[in-house]
Amino acid sequence: MTTTEPLDVQPTPLALLLLGREADPRSERGVECPGDLPAPSDPDLVDRARKAKARLGDRVFVLGHHYQRDEVIEFADVTGDSFKLARDAAARPQAEYIVFCGVHFMAESADILTGDDQQVILPDLAAGCSMADMATAEQVAECWDVLTDARIADVTVPVSYMNSSADIKAFTGRHGGTICTSSNAKRALEWAFEQGTKVLFLPDQHLGRNTAVRDMGLSLDDCVVYNPHKPGGGVTPEQLRAARMILWRGHCSVHGRFSLESVQDVRARIPGVNVLVHPECRHEVVAAADQVGSTEYIIKALDAAPAGSAWAIGTELNLVRRLAKAHPDKQIVFLDKTVCFCSTMNRIDLPHLVWALESLADGTVVNRIEVDKETEHYAKLALERMLALP
Ligand code: 13P
Ligand code: SF4
Repeated sequence: MTTTEPLDVQPTPLALLLLGREADPRSERGVECPGDLPAPSDPDLVDRARKAKARLGDRVFVLGHHYQRDEVIEFADVTGDSFKLARDAAARPQAEYIVFCGVHFMAESADILTGDDQQVILPDLAAGCSMADMATAEQVAECWDVLTDARIADVTVPVSYMNSSADIKAFTGRHGGTICTSSNAKRALEWAFEQGTKVLFLPDQHLGRNTAVRDMGLSLDDCVVYNPHKPGGGVTPEQLRAARMILWRGHCSVHGRFSLESVQDVRARIPGVNVLVHPECRHEVVAAADQVGSTEYIIKALDAAPAGSAWAIGTELNLVRRLAKAHPDKQIVFLDKTVCFCSTMNRIDLPHLVWALESLADGTVVNRIEVDKETEHYAKLALERMLALP
């Protein structure tokens, strides 16, 4: 197998939806905000956000993922990576409203982990995740049939990255698997290999491959890539039987942009630079980096770095810019030469946050993310297995 295959750029129905070219009556994504969204030029936005938050008091808890804009992070009660935020949401039973400044799958996870009397709000329903959209429930059910036909389903444990829909998490819970995030993927795989001999890793092929090869000592030959757009996943039953890691062919469109050349370039430009990348990057990028870790890991590594040290960071640009500002005594540069925001994370901006907070303060719940009971039951099983990992 090769790790340099081109990215799959087939537009999915959901990608078209985000571009405003399709409508999906079953999905809440892409809908307009009801009521009036404040203009981005409104000079009172900061004041309005402060006042609405003060009116709500302890009834609201605002979570901010590290990739959010500065203007949004300013109003977050806590910030974190997706693992920390899932735990933070679960640990806040007294908050009536959880306003999730992040993307759709994170808000779904928060809804699953919080009480029935708590309501989770995503300020812009179009804040999805292109990677999560690369695995649908129908495709994954079809994949399981392929594994069943190859007579390996009973020894395969699904491990799904947090960046997946509630449906995929429910599939994982139903089939005895666990969720993982980029900060606990190794522990999740160790656990999974105690339960079975093979792992079906969804939906990020890079996190799955990087964790298996870099952290667990498996070889690239132990991995096969299952392509949901090809009959039988594009692999033979023999290949599936020989593999230990069955990697879903999904990727992050932001982290997929970092290349081996970007690592080589920065090393040539800045002698002694430390290259630190997120494990969603391609395998050759991770293999050429000095350190690899989740957003929370990246923040801690820079906090601990000595003054005068130089760092090239391969993750979303909002976070890298904030880190560069927070550490003026260190040289912190973005690994790619071009701008690389996560466009869906960026959909949550101050106007949407103000609109959500003011609506809640006025007694109207907007943009609620609610997972149905059956999906929630099985997805929670998988999430709780993750939270119980040693
Ligand atoms: P973290 O798990 O590091 O928060 O990353 C989430 C994410 O979406 C990265 O692209
Ligand atoms: Fe999804 Fe990538 Fe954006 Fe993370 S950075 S939310 S994986 S598209």
